[in-house]
Amino acid sequence: MRPYVILNAAMTLDGKIATLSGSSNISGAKDLERVHELRKDCDGIMVGIGTVLADDPRLTVHKIDAKPSDNPVRIVVDSKCRTPADARITNGDAKTIIAMANEYKDEFKASDKYEILKSKGVKFFFSGDVQVDLKMLMIYLHEVGIDKLMLEGGSTLNFSMIKAGLIDEISICVAPMVVGGVNAKTFFDGEGFNTMDESVKLKLIDYYRLDKDFILNYKVLNG
Ligand SMILES: NC(=O)c1ccc[n+]([C@@H]2O[C@H](COP(=O)([O-])OP(=O)(O)OC[C@H]3O[C@@H](n4cnc5c(N)ncnc54)[C@H](OP(=O)(O)O)[C@@H]3O)[C@@H](O)[C@H]2O)c1
Repeated sequence: MRPYVILNAAMTLDGKIATLSGSSNISGAKDLERVHELRKDCDGIMVGIGTVLADDPRLTVHKIDAKPSDNPVRIVVDSKCRTPADARITNGDAKTIIAMANEYKDEFKASDKYEILKSKGVKFFFSGDVQVDLKMLMIYLHEVGIDKLMLEGGSTLNFSMIKAGLIDEISICVAPMVVGGVNAKTFFDGEGFNTMDESVKLKLIDYYRLDKDFILNYKVLNG
């Protein structure tokens, strides 16, 4: 058993989720409210370490009316625990789990960072040899009570998750902007598929305008 996973992101018309310099302020005000409603509706919210290092997000519900208990559990997929000890995701506003790989377990547990993060209430889950085993992580998250998980990027984790068949739904905000840049992050990066036959197939289930932005919702047709 694993959580139901909804991937949410905002991209420019040319599919970029950040500029080359890391600027990722894409959603309009109404879309941010939609995203925070979705966060409130989920038990967990997960990002890759690249997103934590680029954006230092809080991953709490704060753009709409909410109580502290509305905050989902925050999960960082971070094989080597590169999460800074003072990252905002480790503040006391919500529970935090850092998912790491087994290779780095002993060294990490002997470090000052481990003691600091532990004293802040951060929990750790170890799986995989040198990189987090996402399937094992999903099983663990379900075991600790996360039935609905929001995936909030970035591009590398998005691709690994969809390739592993671990995404059920995609919600994307398309902003009327073009930013270009061959090395700017797109919605899905990773190693990619070689042929269109291998692509993950989706079914469009809803679409609507939200002020200047356009929202598309898809079901992922796994298998
Ligand atoms: N516009 C939006 O909606 C939006 C949302 C989120 C992020 N972003 C942008 O996305 C960018 C970050 O994306 P990113 O691709 O650099 O980083 P990312 O996807 O957030 O994190 C990728 C990292 O996760 C770790 N990881 C551990 N196990 C993994 C696994 N099994 N599969 C994949 N990754 C695994 C890897 O580092 P280790 O091997 O060290 O663990 C990997 O480099 C930022 O610029 C951010 O602003 C935009």
